[in-house]
Amino acid sequence: MRKTTIRSLPRFARLIGLVGLLAAPATAWATDHSLPRLVHKDGRHALLIDGAPYLILGAQVNNSSAWPAVLPQVWPAIKAIHANTVEMPVYWEQFEPKPGAFDYSVVDTLVAQSCKNDVHLILLWFATWKNGSPHYMPLWMKQDPKKLVRMLRADGRPVDSASPFSSEMLEADKRAFVALMRHLKKTDPQHTVILVQVENESGTWGAVRDYSPAAVKAFDAPVPAPILAAMGKKPAGANIGNVGNVGNVSNVGWKEAFGKDADEFFHAWAVARYVGEVAAAGKAEYPLPLYANAALRDPISPGPVVNWESGGPTDDVLPIWKAAAPALDLLAPDIYMDDYTKVDKVMELYRRPDNPLLIPEISNAPQYARFFFLALGHETLGFSPFGIDVTNYVNFPLGAKKTNEETLAPFALNYQLVGPMMRELARLGFEGKVKGVAEKKGTPAQSLEIGGWKVNVSYGLPQFGFGDKPPGNAEPVGGAFVAQLDDNQFLVAGVHCRVDFQTTGAAPKKQRDYLRVEEGTYESGKFKFRRLWNGDQTDWGLNFTSEPQILRVVVGTY
Ligand code: DGJ
Repeated sequence: MRKTTIRSLPRFARLIGLVGLLAAPATAWATDHSLPRLVHKDGRHALLIDGAPYLILGAQVNNSSAWPAVLPQVWPAIKAIHANTVEMPVYWEQFEPKPGAFDYSVVDTLVAQSCKNDVHLILLWFATWKNGSPHYMPLWMKQDPKKLVRMLRADGRPVDSASPFSSEMLEADKRAFVALMRHLKKTDPQHTVILVQVENESGTWGAVRDYSPAAVKAFDAPVPAPILAAMGKKPAGANIGNVGNVGNVSNVGWKEAFGKDADEFFHAWAVARYVGEVAAAGKAEYPLPLYANAALRDPISPGPVVNWESGGPTDDVLPIWKAAAPALDLLAPDIYMDDYTKVDKVMELYRRPDNPLLIPEISNAPQYARFFFLALGHETLGFSPFGIDVTNYVNFPLGAKKTNEETLAPFALNYQLVGPMMRELARLGFEGKVKGVAEKKGTPAQSLEIGGWKVNVSYGLPQFGFGDKPPGNAEPVGGAFVAQLDDNQFLVAGVHCRVDFQTTGAAPKKQRDYLRVEEGTYESGKFKFRRLWNGDQTDWGLNFTSEPQILRVVVGTY
């Protein structure tokens, strides 16, 4: 209805009308207190919190910071970064100190303090796998080799990773996870907890697959038919049946089906099935959205499997994970690679019609902050730098050398900028109306296409003057997003860049005219006008610095 009205008016009237129209509520989503959930439409995804699309402006604490005594060193950093969601682990060793006896006190504190600090909470279930290892298993398991069953190498040596073929261990993990989810259902009616991550970077470093007797037996059996199908392979013959707990089997062996990838694919299936069972058991208690995160492989030149954590949801085995762990709502990349092309590729690989993009971890080194804008363009459900607290632990060189106001400032600026309009941005992303870019070292100008316009984004220019030869910023720190509100109407924001609209195909001989450029902020879902930009502020394009500025722009041609 909005489009028809605007189109049917003469240009001047359209402009006048626009001022009023833009003040109207932008969303058709009525908020409610329903369970957090994911919705999917036309291959796009949204996370609904209180019934409306939500953008996770997240921050993950260091591994050992989710203890009540340490929380005073967490909240100042969460505040400083302007996060709306905090990610904190639940440690199996703390949660189940004695078999079957659960200690809910820490998780209760995490929920209560998150609520008090006005942020949502994502809980990370550190259990059978944490970065591939069983280090968070309770002591009573670690001390009993029958309870903590390690993977074996081909030569029989144990590996620092749990065997995905131990049904006793799986049952123990399931039982504890079920207790956690049941407790959340009972004690968190306000849905402070919006998502739960099952395990952490599950898989194995230092071995490609398990050679325990149970694993060898499973490897010698045929590949389950759904796994073959997921990887686009056809069973060789019609001899498909149901065998024991393996599910539908084909008559094709792992080596025969997958050749040199057989070991890795087998391990991915084994780990995914285990994590999927834990997830399904928890979800049956309390159906919050669940996900698993991945230690990535190089998305462009991965090399041999020894280069990455085998068995985890890396890009090459996403279909295996989807087929073997359907209770997981999404598989998510942890990004610790500071190369634009690779980061862009990772986002492209994990944003699929069957998998929403969510970035549950990204390095907190300042140069990673700009990838927020790229992630918006890839329709991410959320973004979350890792190691956000003031405990003075830093994971340099993966992350920043120091965690302080200065190093967190670029992340804080992003969240400050979009925080007040995150609902609108999430809705527009779900509708496919957001494009974003981040500065690529050595590439001082980029462009994106939106609503029939080419939008040029250049870096390193002064705010005043022509911009034929942008030099790029000294460090790649720039980024911008453009969201389409209506025909020729856009929301534009960015940092350390110049954004300029240019006519394209339909009107190649015409030139762009900035008809109205409003700067403002969002308050309670409404754009609040502050001033018009004109003169120097628009004559050379729209220049963004480290001021959090949001523009509503109407472009025309002459
Ligand atoms: C990725 C893991 O998921 C995190 O828990 C943490 O160990 C970082 N790597 C490294 O600091």
